[in-house]
Amino acid sequence: MDVFSEIRPLKAFLSQEKKELNSIGFVPTMGALHKGHLSLIEASRSENRLTVCSIFVNPAQFNNPADLARYPRTLEKDKLLLEKAKCNVLFCPDTAQMYSSQSRVIFDFGELDKTMEGYYRPGHFSGVALVVSKLLNIVTPDRAYFGQKDYQQFKIIEKLVDDLKFDVSLRCMPIIREPDGLAMSSRNARLTQVQRNKAPVFYQSLEEAKSLLRHGDSMKNVRALIAGKMERMGDVKLEYLELADTTNLTPTENVSDNTVLLIAGYVGEIRLIDNLLMKDED
Ligand code: PAF
Repeated sequence: MDVFSEIRPLKAFLSQEKKELNSIGFVPTMGALHKGHLSLIEASRSENRLTVCSIFVNPAQFNNPADLARYPRTLEKDKLLLEKAKCNVLFCPDTAQMYSSQSRVIFDFGELDKTMEGYYRPGHFSGVALVVSKLLNIVTPDRAYFGQKDYQQFKIIEKLVDDLKFDVSLRCMPIIREPDGLAMSSRNARLTQVQRNKAPVFYQSLEEAKSLLRHGDSMKNVRALIAGKMERMGDVKLEYLELADTTNLTPTENVSDNTVLLIAGYVGEIRLIDNLLMKDED
């Protein structure tokens, strides 16, 4: 695997690959890689001649400095995992490379970045859009791969790519779960054993909510039931549970195959998110 920490040599390398008409798949990450990320690498490898992964913990998307400081950083282990997954190129810049000048660019996606994650993490999606724009400009991939776990993020990136006319195809890949249903996330590494045992409640709640809604229960009742259940567990707190339209993420009360349930909350101090499509998988 070729490893680059600077933009210029990476671009020189990639332009040579482009001359040879090699298609480029791109998997942007913040590191602390797990099977979810590796499934993105695999998807990229199946569709492209060259797979580029980036690891960059982007300060601009953290609205909480403590969360940024505590975000797991495991570069050496990540490199081994990427080698094993046969990733071709790793781009791991430092903050000075990515933010050589203080950026004042602010993105506004209207309602899309004001609800759910956008509401609870003000500025988060503007920071994501900024770094993804930079990365797409640097790597200029044919295809870019993201996880469905960050559903709202994917919708924002779709809008960004459409608005700014980035010449890239986006892929949203299914959530990879632990055997007990917990969605894989870099943040899971920070859970204590007791917290880890409680964490699957987020996925279980999505399944329960889906079933109750399908049987005609209202979102209001379902939300109250789930919030109460979490509170009784101790150390677990529901932040939001929403049913939203899959196209524009507008919250809705009307269950259909074009809706998605999205959940966020805390186990101890660790914030977890998850989602479940209302459409049954075939
Ligand atoms: O999903 C992530 O890991 C990050 O938000 C991303 C897309 C790599 C941007 O920093």
